[in-house]
Amino acid sequence: MYQIIMIHDSQQLEQAFHIRRRVFIDEQHVPEELEMDDYDHQADTRHILLLDDQGQAAGTARFRPYGGGVLKIERVAVMANQRGQGAGRRIMEAIEAEGKREKYDSLKLSAQLHAKSFYEGLGYQAKGPIYLDAGIEHVDMFKQISQEP
Ligand code: COA
Repeated sequence: MYQIIMIHDSQQLEQAFHIRRRVFIDEQHVPEELEMDDYDHQADTRHILLLDDQGQAAGTARFRPYGGGVLKIERVAVMANQRGQGAGRRIMEAIEAEGKREKYDSLKLSAQLHAKSFYEGLGYQAKGPIYLDAGIEHVDMFKQISQEP
């Protein structure tokens, strides 16, 4: 069983950053200065931490308002030894629930190409060209979450 925490203190934030350092900097070789950016400390950015049943930090993501009713999801990361067990899905579902609760119209993310089918399985659709970010192929993806009146 996983537990979702909406991060509210610096100790939890440090656990989330630890996961991102392992996954994006060590594993994917993203330069630290690109990975850790100003949005991390912006007031309207929220961070999520996923704990496993031992209380170990297993995954993280952040999300922030993007304007025009759009909530942007970034830095989705699950520790390598925790993948394939529903952790990523759990993080994405928690953010989507938050987006719906706050009446956002849609969710947006910039997907690494290898993760495109992961997001498609969660109802996201790719839109636009493939582009390079930090030397990794990405494509923009969207999911409508506004309720029909
Ligand atoms: N390609 C296709 N499908 C995938 C996938 C992938 N790379 N990773 C997971 N899936 C599928 C699973 O099979 C599962 O399908 P099911 O519900 O039909 O069983 C579903 O997506 C949910 O998988 P889950 O176990 O919740 O995913 P995860 O915990 O392994 O997390 C990532 C997925 C992408 C977040 C994780 O692999 C990761 O952190 N990768 C490194 C960092 C990264 O690239 N992040 C994305 C940045 S855009």
